[in-house]
Amino acid sequence: MDLGIRGRTALVGGASSGLGLAIAEALASEGADLVLTARRAEVLLEVAADLAARHGIRVETIAADFATPDAGGQIAQRATDLMGTIDIVVLNAGGPPPVDPTATDPEAWARALQILVMTPIAIATALIPPMRERGWGRIVAVGSYAVRQPVDELAYSNAGRSALMAWLKTASRAVAADGVTVNGAFPGRHATARIEALDRATAERTGASLEAVRAAHLAAIPAGRYGRPDEFAAYVTYLCSERASYQTGTFTTIDGGLVAGLP
Ligand SMILES: NC(=O)c1ccc[n+]([C@@H]2O[C@H](COP(=O)([O-])OP(=O)(O)OC[C@H]3O[C@@H](n4cnc5c(N)ncnc54)[C@H](OP(=O)(O)O)[C@@H]3O)[C@@H](O)[C@H]2O)c1
Repeated sequence: MDLGIRGRTALVGGASSGLGLAIAEALASEGADLVLTARRAEVLLEVAADLAARHGIRVETIAADFATPDAGGQIAQRATDLMGTIDIVVLNAGGPPPVDPTATDPEAWARALQILVMTPIAIATALIPPMRERGWGRIVAVGSYAVRQPVDELAYSNAGRSALMAWLKTASRAVAADGVTVNGAFPGRHATARIEALDRATAERTGASLEAVRAAHLAAIPAGRYGRPDEFAAYVTYLCSERASYQTGTFTTIDGGLVAGLP
């Protein structure tokens, strides 16, 4: 199937690693030109050179920290300056640290909500109006299965991602008539640096071995394995495509069956 996005421009967050990197790869393979953002400038430049060489596309980079209050507006402006127009936005960055839910603190809440809620909303808010004027746009947020089934040690993530989902749903209805779709994709447990770090943190906190921590997670996943980042990226790329033109305000979990409840 031709996804119909060759020559479209996409801004991809968290593009130096894991799910964001896999999404950048998948969009590149469909011929989209890219603006990659994350904090590590050198890693982004390496990824950009590699994708541009292998796929014959234009790739630019913006080194920025989603935790900085004015980062969202700056990323959106710089991306527009670089490419002229941005057709597709993948909202994604790092996840917050584990925490005892009865021992959260205001500073960590502020940081988590800046990264998970305020910066993504600022980026989308800046880039949606020109999409509406052109009559075409795609916003896809990388969330978490934690919105469906809160993860015990991830209170900041559970709450922040739920807040973003509520905004996305509201915004999707406001812009649907103008050819702009707004959706979310929720990973279960995909093998990335983030999941490796969380598993290690659980092992350290509980005294269990890393193997035992992984085995416990795998026992709860009907597919019997962690997902691959490219499996997640394939669905996000579909949402970014021309083919997904009538899908908006939806939030789909890609989790090998992990979430036991109805969606
Ligand atoms: N993997 C999963 O199965 C899974 C499950 C549920 C939720 N998630 C969520 O999905 C998102 C992506 O996860 P991942 O597994 O791909 O993690 P990852 O491999 O650790 O990648 C995270 C990406 O975000 C960037 N990043 C981190 N902090 C940032 C910040 N403050 N500002 C801007 N960029 C930042 C990182 O690059 P730099 O270090 O260069 O900034 C990296 O490119 C995270 O929010 C994670 O919590 C993932």
